[in-house]
Amino acid sequence: MRVKGDEFMFEGSVVVVTGAASGIGKQTAIEFARQGAKVVVGDIDEEGGTAVVAGLTSKGHDAAFVRTDLTSEAECENLMAAAAGNFGRVDVLVNNAGIEISTPLHEMPVAEWDKLLDTNLKSMFLCSKYALHQMIEAKSGVIVNVCSVSGLVAWPGIAAYNTTKGGVMMLTKSLAADYAKYNIRANCVCPSIIDTPMTDTSVGNDAAVKEQKAKLNPIGRLGTPEDVANAILFLASDKSSFVTGAALTVDGGYTAI
Ligand SMILES: NC(=O)c1ccc[n+]([C@@H]2O[C@H](COP(=O)([O-])OP(=O)(O)OC[C@H]3O[C@@H](n4cnc5c(N)ncnc54)[C@H](O)[C@@H]3O)[C@@H](O)[C@H]2O)c1
Repeated sequence: MRVKGDEFMFEGSVVVVTGAASGIGKQTAIEFARQGAKVVVGDIDEEGGTAVVAGLTSKGHDAAFVRTDLTSEAECENLMAAAAGNFGRVDVLVNNAGIEISTPLHEMPVAEWDKLLDTNLKSMFLCSKYALHQMIEAKSGVIVNVCSVSGLVAWPGIAAYNTTKGGVMMLTKSLAADYAKYNIRANCVCPSIIDTPMTDTSVGNDAAVKEQKAKLNPIGRLGTPEDVANAILFLASDKSSFVTGAALTVDGGYTAI
């Protein structure tokens, strides 16, 4: 239920969402735009990212796509510069992009480990680094990182992925500790299984398997991209102005039991 009066909570704000060509990031970009934000989509998927932005601009929202390989420092720097170039500044950064690789550790090639760490963790450091340059100068800003329940507990079979999310958790707390003095907050969301293209790849697109996975959550269903987007918007908004360094589980109760 949308709370009356909360529409346009981000009117005029400039929000960068990484990995917004698909899944959680895409829905997050849509929700921010609906609430008045100017949205910058940074993603390696040019076709998907362009389509998301076209969908937003066709509805009268301000949005821009910047093709970005988030494992590259130069491209992350360019993403933040492009956001400022298009819309003047960066108010909110949502570090969302991520991948999952489930090779067991004893069989994992170093190249796979590096790819996971670079995509899921280094990218969040790099985007934060260049967003912070602008936020420190503005003495204002919010960073929301998309972590996972696997940053809190070890999800079986995806050790390297869990490790990246443990890193995201501590990156979030460290950002909160070091940048509060500049009026910059940092928090993360920790989803359990969310019904996105990533899950279609990792869990499979079989309804019976998904139903079985859904039973792991006391609420008894998988999460939706909207569930996560709503939590991200709360953490990015002034309604959470005394919340920093927090990890908000969006997991249907998965970690409560
Ligand atoms: N789906 C889940 O069950 C789930 C659960 C917990 C946490 N998460 C986290 O949520 C985030 C989003 O996941 P999702 O399920 O929406 O996935 P998704 O696969 O639907 O979307 C991920 C996006 O990231 C982009 N991306 C990947 N590598 C990139 C790179 N190097 N540079 C730029 N963009 C890149 C992809 O192109 C894609 O658009 C991830 O961080 C994931 O770890 C997902």
